[in-house]
Amino acid sequence: MEIRESGMPEIERWESFFDPYAILLTFGLSTRDKIIIDFGCGYGTFSIAAAEISLGDVYAFDNNEVFLAECRKRAAEKGLEKVHCIHRDFVKEGVGMQPNSADFVMLFNILHADNPIDILLEAHRVLAPGGRAAVIHWNYDPLTPRGPSMDIRPKPEQCQIWMKEAGFEFVTPKFDFPPYHYGLLGQKKKKII
Ligand SMILES: C[S@@+](CC[C@H](N)C(=O)[O-])C[C@H]1O[C@@H](n2cnc3c(N)ncnc32)[C@H](O)[C@@H]1O
Repeated sequence: MEIRESGMPEIERWESFFDPYAILLTFGLSTRDKIIIDFGCGYGTFSIAAAEISLGDVYAFDNNEVFLAECRKRAAEKGLEKVHCIHRDFVKEGVGMQPNSADFVMLFNILHADNPIDILLEAHRVLAPGGRAAVIHWNYDPLTPRGPSMDIRPKPEQCQIWMKEAGFEFVTPKFDFPPYHYGLLGQKKKKII
């Protein structure tokens, strides 16, 4: 099931809108993160950057083979065998990974879906205790050059509420990723030993 309005411009234009390395470093992605999941990887913009920063395994899911082919090609060109590009509809089927298995999940430019809480619940399920889910989305501003229409574009406060509803114990205040994006980071509760 396609997320509504998930069309993308060509790659150069898409990647002029943000700096994936700076965003992931701001979220604290590091070599401690071994298993990373990208929900709706598109061209692999963030999957590739995450693999380069973390040196971990990145599971990049998308239901569009055209985008996946680009992600695969870029991973191969960079010798990043730890980027696994997987064709899957995570809205219908989830990501199919073990519960409590991932360190870091990326939900980038996808929470305008009509079922954002289900997607967040799946992210929460696969994260290990203490694991983090990073969200970015287009600013709630009709002047951004792209982004979903305003009637379905989520505000950061709305995403924070959804993240808490999905079970994330801690959710940060909004990060600004100028010129067009904001970000949030949620953490799954740590196990009490
Ligand atoms: C707006 S793009 C964002 C791409 C990437 N996250 C980024 O920020 O560069 C949304 C992506 O989600 C994918 N997508 C939409 N619905 C999906 C679904 N149900 N299952 C898997 N991928 C989906 C689209 O094919 C598209 O590549």
